[in-house]
Amino acid sequence: KFDGLALTPPMGWNSWNKFACNINEKLIMEIAEVMVSSGMRDAGYEYINLDDCWHGDRDSLGFIHPDPERFPSGMKVLADFIHSKGLRMGLYSDAGSRTCGGRPGSRGYEFQDALTYANWGVDYLKYDWCNTEGLKAEGAYKTMAAALKKAGRPIILSICEWGDDEPWKWGPAVGHLWRTTGDIFNCFDCVEDHGTWKSFGVMQILDRQKGLRQYAGPGRWNDPDMLEVGNGMQENEDRAHFSMWAMIAAPLIAGNDLRAMTKETIGILTNKEVIAVNQDSLGIQGFQYSVKDKLETWFKPLKDGSWAVCFLNRNDSPQEVDFDWAKEAVQDSLSKRDLDNRAGEYTIRNLWTKKASGTTEKRFKATVPSHDVVMLRLIRNI
Ligand code: GLA
Repeated sequence: KFDGLALTPPMGWNSWNKFACNINEKLIMEIAEVMVSSGMRDAGYEYINLDDCWHGDRDSLGFIHPDPERFPSGMKVLADFIHSKGLRMGLYSDAGSRTCGGRPGSRGYEFQDALTYANWGVDYLKYDWCNTEGLKAEGAYKTMAAALKKAGRPIILSICEWGDDEPWKWGPAVGHLWRTTGDIFNCFDCVEDHGTWKSFGVMQILDRQKGLRQYAGPGRWNDPDMLEVGNGMQENEDRAHFSMWAMIAAPLIAGNDLRAMTKETIGILTNKEVIAVNQDSLGIQGFQYSVKDKLETWFKPLKDGSWAVCFLNRNDSPQEVDFDWAKEAVQDSLSKRDLDNRAGEYTIRNLWTKKASGTTEKRFKATVPSHDVVMLRLIRNI
């Protein structure tokens, strides 16, 4: 779907990971305000997305209304407020009869709902997949895509189908991003069993992105789900999570309570050099180059000829990196680019310490703490 939207991975905030169904207009307005005052807007975050449970009932004509107790001012007022902060507004619905949280879904009301969202000033729609018996995913998402187009307002379509029907194959023609997995869980390395379904820690989600990078690009992104940064993992784990989402060109949708961030959390979420790796206009998803003893080396080619490099330590103890640029042969078939490793070709910048770190002339040595990263940008010396 190439309509000029989401040319880089969408950035913003979504209510679900921290607040689940417990949302109201006061909370959303406060989040929008902190998005600005914390520096997040200036770092690139744009969308304020309401997830499940904003809904009230449909009226006798079928029009959907927000929950009158939680959103007494209505959605247009909320959207205007968000826009007045220089931000954009996102909403959530579901292709089925009911949302996952049991609110009215859009099945049979797609065109009416799209028109309603456009009238309110919505800029982003996350469209979920609960209660869709008898529907085929591609067709259902195409219906909503057509409805949004007809409504006439540019609206990002976030396909939330959990990867079951290989949305990376049809999603690029239908929406702007598609979930590749079930829900993320706020842990670094675990799987949470909910009985009928499972949710996945950061590393489990990362492992499930294998083989998908060829489908991503400007206007079409793999979505490994929203960020858990600031929701209780260790600072190093949050840093690793954020770095890897940057490396794989994932949407950067914060999922924490922005009103109660530590300075460490703000430091992670607003690291402009890491964000620049994610938002690079070449739009190529990074790849795993090697793994040894749970130490992974990832590369991502960047527009200006430089490369992002991330050493990820999944071990419970520190690991030593000893990387000889001259001996490795880093090739990327997607960008058709090799890491040209002639001596002295690149200057190394450490994106977390924000310090220069020599050139690729010498071997790169570093200690990567447990559940942490060392993330670099190799800058081409002209
Ligand atoms: C599904 C989605 C989540 C969230 C919830 C809301 O589980 O995958 O991201 O939107 O529904 O109920």
